[in-house]
Amino acid sequence: MGLNTPYNKVKIARKYATYYLNADTKHKVHSPLVYALVTDVLKKTNQSKNKEIESERKRLLSSKQTIDFKDFGKSGTLFKRNISEIAKSSLKSKKYAKLLSQLVKHYKCKNILELGTSLGITTSYFASNKDTQVITLEGDQSVHEIAKGIWNQLGYTNITSLVGEFDLNLDKIPDHKYDLIYIDGNHSYEPTIRYYKELLKKSHDQTIFVFDDIHYSKGMEKAWKEIQKHETTSISIDLFFLGIVFIDPTLSQQQFTLKY
Ligand SMILES: C[S@@+](CC[C@H](N)C(=O)[O-])C[C@H]1O[C@@H](n2cnc3c(N)ncnc32)[C@H](O)[C@@H]1O
Repeated sequence: MGLNTPYNKVKIARKYATYYLNADTKHKVHSPLVYALVTDVLKKTNQSKNKEIESERKRLLSSKQTIDFKDFGKSGTLFKRNISEIAKSSLKSKKYAKLLSQLVKHYKCKNILELGTSLGITTSYFASNKDTQVITLEGDQSVHEIAKGIWNQLGYTNITSLVGEFDLNLDKIPDHKYDLIYIDGNHSYEPTIRYYKELLKKSHDQTIFVFDDIHYSKGMEKAWKEIQKHETTSISIDLFFLGIVFIDPTLSQQQFTLKY
């Protein structure tokens, strides 16, 4: 098994059980920032509006359409895939999409950068927050077209998308200091570390980084451990399917594992 081979379902289930049994609740958290994150974000995800977005997800899940899909994060080859299959396996679930949306709302994030659009469901959750501008990057043209259709349907005009290999587009993203950077594509060790270091140039002290699938493979776990110990990282929070990183230099480096 190579460094970046995904763990099988049984291994993930075992790891999740260990995480769940050992993760802390707010009662064990002494950091004010993390305590507020538990009470105002993790416990308040139901406040995010999502009916219309979720009905688009349902439509994708029952779609009979097949597309030619180039899997950038994996083999890089072109093959036929059902939209419904992509919607089932690639998108963040409602539970985590709501968490991301609440994170944006609570920390009043305005400029958001997402690596990995896929069918644009999580992008929609970001864009549903008032006053946000979302930049999203995707390699595959076919999923991107479907995502654009969804944003039109939902009436979001605050999304800018760039299509192509991430490495070719990182230089082209508008030169903001982003408030939230969500890395959800190319789940392997080397690119994950590289994107973090590269995107730190587009961050400010209050930027929040979110990494998807930090326990997906040995490689992703290695990347997550290195990110937690990186000199720029202050607080890092392991939620098993997501890792949240604060880089505020006024905070000392601390690592948390929280139940969600
Ligand atoms: C897990 S999906 C994103 C899901 C989406 N954020 C959501 O939850 O709604 C990851 C996407 O990243 C794209 N991707 C992976 N590696 C890439 C790369 N190196 N360049 C461009 N796109 C890439 C894939 O094509 C895939 O559509």
